[in-house]
Amino acid sequence: MTLPPTGSGDDGPPTRRRLHRAEIAEVREKHRIRLRRFAGHGRYAEQLDRPIRVAHLTDMHVGLVTPFKVQLAAIEVTNRERPDVVVITGDFVCHSHAYLDELGWLMKRIEAPVFGVLGNHDYWAGGAEVQKALKRAGVEMLNNANTTLQIGSQRLQLVGLDDAYTGHANRRKALKGMRKDLPTLGLSHIAEEADALWDSGVPLVLSGHTHAGQLTVARLNEWTIGRLAKHRYIHGLYGSRTGEEQPGAVYVGAGIGAAVMPLRMGDRGSREVTMFELGVLPGDLAEHHPEQAAHAPAPDTIDEDEERAAAHARFLERKAKKQNGWRARLKARNQ
Ligand SMILES: [Fe+2]
Repeated sequence: MTLPPTGSGDDGPPTRRRLHRAEIAEVREKHRIRLRRFAGHGRYAEQLDRPIRVAHLTDMHVGLVTPFKVQLAAIEVTNRERPDVVVITGDFVCHSHAYLDELGWLMKRIEAPVFGVLGNHDYWAGGAEVQKALKRAGVEMLNNANTTLQIGSQRLQLVGLDDAYTGHANRRKALKGMRKDLPTLGLSHIAEEADALWDSGVPLVLSGHTHAGQLTVARLNEWTIGRLAKHRYIHGLYGSRTGEEQPGAVYVGAGIGAAVMPLRMGDRGSREVTMFELGVLPGDLAEHHPEQAAHAPAPDTIDEDEERAAAHARFLERKAKKQNGWRARLKARNQ
C-alpha cells in the first residue's frame, strides 16, 4: 500500500489528518514504533485501589528530521491504549519554531490530559514560544512545579523538573508543597536528576534526552551515551521499584523523533511509546526488561553539571556567532 503524503522532510509537507488503522500499522512497522509496558513502583500498590495507566512519550522533536506521520502514529498508538494521563518529558521541537502549529495540532489529538516538562532543544529553539504553543494546545507544563490530578476516586501527584541540561532545573521549587502521602510520579528531561527526587519521596521518575543512543547495535549506545556523553542512565529502567538497595526507579524513554540524525538501529534504539501501570506490582506483568545497573561513569568523568553548562555555553556561543553573521550580511546588503 502506498501512503499519501502525511510526513515532513522527505515525505512532503505535514498534512493535518488522522491516520487510518492500516496506515498506523504500516508506519509502526516501517519506522519501528514499539509499545512497551511496565509496572510502577511497589509503593503505588499500597496507595492505589485500582491501577492508574500513564502513557509516556518523549523527545518528539516535531520538525524537519522526523516524518510527521511518525508523530501521528505515535499519538494514535497512545490513544488506543486509553491511558488515564499522558506525560511528555521534553524536546517537543527540533531546532526552530517553524512547526509549532503542527506541534499544537498533534497535542490536541491526544485524548487524555497531557502534562509535560521542557527539554534542552525546547530552550534552544525558544522555551517561551514552545511553552506558549503547548499551553494553547491544552498541555499543562510543570516547570519546577507539582500538581495533583483526580482520576476517578483516586489522586495522582505529578512533580515536574525543568530542564537540567540548560540549567533550568530547580528541585526545591518543584517539590514545594508536595504531599508525601499521595502516589507521586516525577518528570525530568534528564534522567540523572532522578536520584535526588527519590530521596525527596518521588519513587518513579520518567525521562528522555538520550534517544537510547539511536544506534544500539553492538551496544554502540553505551559508548556514545555512556562513555562520550557521560550519562549513567542510557535507556530503559534503572534503580529499584521495591525500595531495596535504591529508594526509587527511573525510566529513560527512547523517544519518538530525532534532532540531527534520523537513523535508528537495534531494538533499544527503536522509537517508543511506554505504558506504566501504577498500582501493578513489578513482576505481575510481562515487561521488556527488568531494572538494569546504571552505566559506570568513565574514569575521566568530570562533574555532570559543569559539563552540561559548558555544552550549553558552547551552543549559545555558536548561536551568537551565527546571528552576528546574519546581522553583518544584512547590514552590508542594506548599505
Ligand atoms: Fe532529544
